[in-house]
Amino acid sequence: EAVELGVYEDFMMKEIHEQPEALRATLAGRLDAEGRVDLSETGLDLRHVNRVVVVACGTALHAGLLGKGLIERLARLPVEVAVASEYRYADPVGDENTLVVAISQSGETTDTLAAVEAARYFGGKVLAVTNTRGSLITREADAVLLTEAGPEICVASTKAFAAQVAALDLLALELARVRGTVSDDELLSLGRDLRRAPEKVAAALALLEGKTEAAVELFEDARCSLFLGRGPAFPVALEGALKLKEISYIPSEGYAAGEMKHGPIALVDEQCPVVAILGEGVLREKTLSNVEETAARGANVVAIAREDDAAADRVGRVVLCVPDAPEILRPLVWSVPLQLLAHDIATDRGLDVDKPRNLAKSVTVE
Ligand code: G6P
Repeated sequence: EAVELGVYEDFMMKEIHEQPEALRATLAGRLDAEGRVDLSETGLDLRHVNRVVVVACGTALHAGLLGKGLIERLARLPVEVAVASEYRYADPVGDENTLVVAISQSGETTDTLAAVEAARYFGGKVLAVTNTRGSLITREADAVLLTEAGPEICVASTKAFAAQVAALDLLALELARVRGTVSDDELLSLGRDLRRAPEKVAAALALLEGKTEAAVELFEDARCSLFLGRGPAFPVALEGALKLKEISYIPSEGYAAGEMKHGPIALVDEQCPVVAILGEGVLREKTLSNVEETAARGANVVAIAREDDAAADRVGRVVLCVPDAPEILRPLVWSVPLQLLAHDIATDRGLDVDKPRNLAKSVTVE
């Protein structure tokens, strides 16, 4: 069926704004008002899982990295995140208690399908997280968890990413429940937090509407750019850098902020803007000091921070504010300014954000 643009100038902007609905639909029927998760639809018995491997490509891989953080923290299971094109030839290690989570918006990515096949050799159970009903991966996998983002037209993924993150959050809560690694009260409280995903992402969109201009200006003469974060902000930084390079063609690297001193800091000057997701708690302090080092070397810093974060004004030439949100929702909320920034930088350069050069929505060749 034809998908209409409506009031939006392009599909990317439309899909960025469809994230609250994508999240709502993905959580619906799987998370009740008390915060109880129900993934019985997958038919998977998760009790014997002793290891998780995520295989994916591109944006889906970044969703997988966020899933790893949460599954390890809540369910205390080791999680490996593998680039599908590598995994397929890696003769991977595992057994029948390995849960292989294959994430793919299209469900048709050749490398991800081949990675699933590689996991078959050691008897891994495969859960496909996909946005496409009836896609190839749904036929290859043992179980399916559909993301309900609706059709995504723009090559650069936004709402499908948000839905993948929500699906992995559900999986992390379910694994923690089955393994008894988190108390019932705590689990319900996390579940109720997760239910607020649509509301918090909508709040971020409202807060950031029309606020990117000053940040876009910092990219006018950019040669390259760095996206920094730590902990859960690190995969978000990787995704922010991917988004920007995909549609603006500005070489962009996502880096763990603490690792920057081991290389990328050499890139820093006035023409290499730094986008820093400050985060919360102890990692916020650490990130701040990493980012201060780039500012001291002349970097124009765009800080992604909470509205009331006074330190953000100190390091950032520009601050893009996000609403306060429960911990489990922060990666989704931080993603919003990065998506808008990439979109606005690319459109400022007169580029077609929906159809970037050399890229395909779904890569069905090796
Ligand atoms: C292509 C798309 C990306 C996507 C990746 C994986 O590179 O341009 O946006 O993240 O494929 O696609 P999949 O459908 O497997 O999620």
